[in-house]
Amino acid sequence: MLKTHGCGDLRAEHADQQVTLAGWVHRRRDHGGLVFIDLRDSTGLVQVVFHPDRAPVAFAIASEARSEYVLQIVGVVQPRRDGTENAELPTGAIEVQASRADVLNASETPPFPINIDSNVDELTRLRYRYLDLRRERMARNLRLRHRVVKFMRDFMDAERFIEVETPVLNLATPEGARDYLVPSRVHPGSFYALPQSPQQWKQLLMVAGVDRYFQIARCYRDEDLRGDRQPEFTQLDIEMAFVEEQDILDLTERLYTEMASEVGPQFTLPSPFPRLTYSAAMERYGSDKPDLRYGLELHDLSKFAAQGEFRVFTQAVEDRGRVRGFAVPGGADIARRGLDALTEVAKAAGASGLVWVQFAGEGPLDALTAEEIKSPAARFFTPDVWAAIGMECGANRGDLLLIAAGADELTSKVLDTLRRQVADERGLADPNTLAFAFITEFPAFEWDAEDGRWSAVHHLFTSPFLEDLPLLASDPGSVRSHAYDLVCNGQEIASGSIRIHSRDVQIQVLETLGLTLDEASEKFGHMLEAFRYGAPPHGGIAPGIDRTVALFAGERDIREVIAFPKTKSAGDPMTGAPAPVAERQLRDVHIRLDEVAEETLRAAAATLDATPGAADAPGT
Ligand code: AMO
Repeated sequence: MLKTHGCGDLRAEHADQQVTLAGWVHRRRDHGGLVFIDLRDSTGLVQVVFHPDRAPVAFAIASEARSEYVLQIVGVVQPRRDGTENAELPTGAIEVQASRADVLNASETPPFPINIDSNVDELTRLRYRYLDLRRERMARNLRLRHRVVKFMRDFMDAERFIEVETPVLNLATPEGARDYLVPSRVHPGSFYALPQSPQQWKQLLMVAGVDRYFQIARCYRDEDLRGDRQPEFTQLDIEMAFVEEQDILDLTERLYTEMASEVGPQFTLPSPFPRLTYSAAMERYGSDKPDLRYGLELHDLSKFAAQGEFRVFTQAVEDRGRVRGFAVPGGADIARRGLDALTEVAKAAGASGLVWVQFAGEGPLDALTAEEIKSPAARFFTPDVWAAIGMECGANRGDLLLIAAGADELTSKVLDTLRRQVADERGLADPNTLAFAFITEFPAFEWDAEDGRWSAVHHLFTSPFLEDLPLLASDPGSVRSHAYDLVCNGQEIASGSIRIHSRDVQIQVLETLGLTLDEASEKFGHMLEAFRYGAPPHGGIAPGIDRTVALFAGERDIREVIAFPKTKSAGDPMTGAPAPVAERQLRDVHIRLDEVAEETLRAAAATLDATPGAADAPGT
């Protein structure tokens, strides 16, 4: 080894020991005739002192060293002088008195500082990801991710699950997100699809008698990207035979509770995790992934529409919609500008407007006077009715009501968005709470207006409630399913279901989704066939690992916890992927580019020619 100790591992107890260290120059200071270098490796930082008289050669080398040079240093650990200790640094009680220094490698000036957590634009960070990952925050996130994945593996192993790897080159399926396709050379015109998840494989493993399967599985989906979505991401994929919904939820709850005490002891978690049905979640929060760190619960105010002359409310109710709203405690202090901004937020979520009402003063709402009500809609109801509306929402004087009217899908979306916005603005969400909850009883199907057919809310292998099976043909929209999600702080973290294990039920579901028996057997014949041979009852779940790590890391974007993520347009600015390939490679796989592709490539080549220094572009 080129070193005897990690920089960050040295403590007072190492005093008087000679050590050899190797790492990067984090910071160099010339001070009082001495040179101080903070040397950094994966274990942390230590201060190294270079004395011009005691070690003139080392001193000369240290004087020349620049940020991010790689140095090897031999020296003796000694306590820092009184008053120069650094309590912030784990190695802050000591320093290393260097006797020797060697430059293992020089470094050009990095494109952004490594030693401070400055704001660097995303593209530059990804272009030089290997430097970005040297930074403290990213290095910490990578270590946390390792610990999360290690915890998952150990936990599953202790629960007697076995890890089985499944293929990455798969048959494309017509359901779900768009596939990433891989053309076949030996089967001209045919394609593999990268797995969106190992769903079918894990079910086949249940038929194979595995009983308890897991896999740290890479999944690929060609979908629109957001802060919590990457084109390739990782799941802890789980499947068990001979279980009911309860068993999987219990296992998941134990996994997350024990994982939190190991990798995130600073967080508060509920115990037990609350379980809400999908319809209760939609009713109370307007979302199937509510943030439960704060209240702001929604209330149905439709019954008040008839007690006034407000067209917005009466029309909504006549159109079979509803009036719904929630109270913001203390929200009477929000100025007109803030209310206008909230109205814009509501409009961006699809509302035609937002009704806000502020109650002046303090204490309960009884004996409210007209002067105490501030709202553009104040005149449409008597103060008594406004008081009753406020009380229905649990409001007091000093509070604000936000009310939306219309179809449930609309009011849910609008009020969910407003709930999150208000909580954000008013700092209502405690960053040290992980408000886990299970959402259950999802509907099995939703109407896909674009395709004019029913589609599966979770996926087509999810078991409907058996007592709802008679509704499959007549009213698919009201069939409930044994699908469940684990949500936390307003995000979906894991998703799963009890599966269909009967061939007949599977065929009925495929028919509901509009697949003919021929199509079903072409795409899912292997599953239908497997179900003929004693498929056990089974179910599973798949926690998203990227989202899980982001939660524990306190990061909003999962890219911060992925070593080499893609940009929002699914590109890699460092390597240049995706990129055109040689004509010959295309011929090998029997692919000819269409005009759009040709034109795009021509335009890109022209820009490249016109860009100075383009020859150094990544990916060449
Ligand atoms: P689902 O599609 O709901 O279920 O995915 C499960 C979990 O995977 C994570 N996830 C993602 N993370 C990052 N980027 C993405 N693009 C992305 N898409 C999904 C989420 C999500 O909760 N086979 C089923 C699971 C099952 O039924 O057992 C499945 O894949 O955290």
